[in-house]
Amino acid sequence: MIKITDVKKVYKSKDGDVTALKSINLNIEQGDIYGIIGPSGAGKSTLIRIINLLEEPSSGNVLIDGVDLTSLSKGELREERKEIGMIFQNFNLMNNSTVSQNIAFPMEISHIDKNVIKDRLDELLDMVGLKDKENVYPAKLSGGQKQRVGIARALANKPKILLCDEPTSALDPVTTKSILELLKDINEKLNITIVLITHQMEVIKTICNKTAVIENGLIVEEGLTQDILANPSSETLKQFLS
Ligand SMILES: Nc1ncnc2c1ncn2[C@@H]1O[C@H](COP(=O)(O)OP(=O)(O)O)[C@@H](O)[C@H]1O
Ligand SMILES: [Mg+2]
Repeated sequence: MIKITDVKKVYKSKDGDVTALKSINLNIEQGDIYGIIGPSGAGKSTLIRIINLLEEPSSGNVLIDGVDLTSLSKGELREERKEIGMIFQNFNLMNNSTVSQNIAFPMEISHIDKNVIKDRLDELLDMVGLKDKENVYPAKLSGGQKQRVGIARALANKPKILLCDEPTSALDPVTTKSILELLKDINEKLNITIVLITHQMEVIKTICNKTAVIENGLIVEEGLTQDILANPSSETLKQFLS
């Protein structure tokens, strides 16, 4: 469902070029919880932002269900992006908006009918367990609750893919566990494909059915999580496991 072929990314700056991704090939299937693990600076955020073209690849292709995102017009890309939700390490909530307003925002900009938004809000608040927080502002929420808002907002337009950029890196271990359970639940109940980048082995072990290891802008190993954990070949993965 997500096919990345020979993607390269070079950031140009006046201090010179930075090659963030050298040549990335990935095949992510419908229903996967696909983990990408690597150290800081390996290119993880760049890679996940390329999947919804928040970052444009310097070369290569990104196909979602056979549609090459790099070939779309701005308008077509905007439509295609509704199929792809995203959550972030630092939640990226609008602090001057309530929980409900944050979650409703993507539906409002998609011009969804007010009554439909209201019903959908109820459903989403219920799904992430924040029914009693709808009128609360983010400053009054714990980290885990903020991430739940982020998840509800990402699911508002019923995407088929959820991209997660270090979703639990700002959370304590107990909260991490509960957010990972929620993501697993969403994957199973809504049949949403999840791509998750992390530097936490715990995340990979807990929910990812497949895993790729990224190092210096290259995927150095990939496969079923159980297989690569049983038989790690890269230095990076051996280090994460030790
Ligand atoms: N906007 C940017 N401009 C220039 N260099 C960048 C930019 N974003 C990331 N980089 C560089 O690209 C490399 C990969 O970064 P990133 O994708 O953020 O890695 P990770 O998320 O694994 O820490 C790093 O060397 C980083 O400094
Ligand atoms: Mg990053």
